[in-house]
Parts: sequence; structure tokens; C-alpha cells
Amino acid sequence: MPSEIFSQNTSKTIELMLQHRSIRQFIDKEISTLDLEQLILAGQAAASSSFIQAYSVIRVTDKDVRAQIAEAAGGQKWINEAPEFLVYCADLKRIELACIEQGEGKLEGHTEHFLAATVDVALFAQNVLLAAESIGLGGVYIGGIRNNPQLLADLLDLPDQVYPAFGMCLGWPAIDPEVKPRFPVASVLHQEKYQIDNVEADVAAYDDQMKEYYESRDSNTRLSDWSTQTAKAVQLKKREHMLDFLQQRGLLKC
Ligand SMILES: Cc1cc2nc3c(=O)[nH]c(=O)nc-3n(C[C@H](O)[C@H](O)[C@H](O)COP(=O)(O)O)c2cc1C
Repeated sequence: MPSEIFSQNTSKTIELMLQHRSIRQFIDKEISTLDLEQLILAGQAAASSSFIQAYSVIRVTDKDVRAQIAEAAGGQKWINEAPEFLVYCADLKRIELACIEQGEGKLEGHTEHFLAATVDVALFAQNVLLAAESIGLGGVYIGGIRNNPQLLADLLDLPDQVYPAFGMCLGWPAIDPEVKPRFPVASVLHQEKYQIDNVEADVAAYDDQMKEYYESRDSNTRLSDWSTQTAKAVQLKKREHMLDFLQQRGLLKC
């Protein structure tokens, strides 16, 4: 049982969630169509903002298309190798059709609609991943597709009002990496008001913990900590093309 469990009131679901780790190496075994469709069904069971269900997912099997996506995502070879590669799209197309049919007019690119669709697709995807993990599969999200979202839009024939938010590799794990420690609950769970005074010390303490984790983990050991990793990840991945790209798709205009 993961060490984080501290309440007697636990469940197999919570235990499963606490065992999550991204999987980037897979055995050579496919995921059956029935299994995949059931995972998508589980994804669709997620809550949805005003029940708009603003998501679509594209299953990509074509090797050449996968290779182009893998390269655009910075050479992530697991995109080529995974038994399944899915591209999750925030999708306001169906919603726009409903609005037009109801005489409510076309969508105008409101930030609120973009946020609702982006939250919807993330909840959907996380349900898929958790369902996958519950049957022994593993996977990893691929935000790297946003390096070149126009390539994805072209390769996948995405209409306007639809954007590729992230990908996901899925398959049967070939490895069993360690679980990465998260911030302590107390750093994330604020009581009544945002506790700004604690933030600096919380980050310093977590950096110490992550430094130890990175130094001692089984593979890919490194001298680093959370702040170092995060600063690099955020500041070297600004993807400044995103606003133009989204606006060209009719999103984020007002
Ligand atoms: C939206 C999103 C995008 C991500 N993009 C990538 C990616 O492009 N490549 C990758 O290897 N991991 C990617 N990850 C996985 C994260 O690096 C990983 O979840 C994080 O380091 C925590 O590790 P864990 O999932 O093993 O607990 C992504 C995760 C999320 C949620």
C-alpha cells in the first residue's frame, strides 16, 4: 500500500490513484478494440461543464503520421512505439452546431468557452488514463504535440472550434518506475484562505525531498529538484505560437 494512505477510510480506487506513474515503455501487446472503447466510455463518464461534452479523441494508428507527431513533439519515441496513441481535442464544434440550430448564433471565441472545453477534455482524459491503469495498462500524456499544433490540425483534419490539447500513449507497461512524490497535502490544501506566507518554505522543503528522489531513484538519476525542473519546463516551453493558432481556429478571441 502506498505510504501516503493515512485515513482508515480508503478504497481500491484511492490506492490505484496513488500508484500512478507515467509509462513510456510498453510490451509488444495490443489493446483490444473492446478494451479501448470501454476506456473511452469511462472517460465520457467524467463530469462536464454544463454537460457540453466538449471533447473528441483521435486514435492514430498510421505509422507515418505517428512518426511526424513524435518528431514534432521533440523526438518522443514512445509515440511511435505505444500500442495506442490518442490525440485529445477540446471540441466546441458540436456545441456550435447546437447553438446555430437553436438560433443562438455562432460561437465568437469567448475565453470562457475555451476554458470550459479545455477543462472538459482534461477531465475526460484523466478518467481514461485512470480506467486504463485500473486494468493494468499504463500511459503518458503528451503535451509535446503543442510544439506544432498546426501540423496536428492538418494531419488529423481538425475543423475550426477544435484544438489538439495533448496526446496520450497507452499500452501494457514494460517497466515499473517509482511513484514521484507530490507536494504534501498541507501545501496544496489551504484552510479558509490562501496561505501565501507558507509558499516559500513549502517549495524549499519539497525541493529537498525531490532532490533526494532524483538522486536515488532506480533509473534516470539526476542532480536536480522541483524548482530547477519546473523553471526550465515553464520558461523553455512558452509555445508562443499558441495564441495565434487558437485564434485561427476561432478560439480565444474575446
Ligand atoms: C498535460 C500533460 C502533458 C504532458 N506532456 C508530456 C510529454 O510531452 N512527454 C512526456 O514524456 N511526459 C509528459 N507528461 C507527463 C509528466 O511529465 C508527468 O505526469 C509528471 O512528470 C509526473 O510524473 P508521473 O506522471 O510519473 O507521476 C505530461 C503530463 C501532462 C499532465
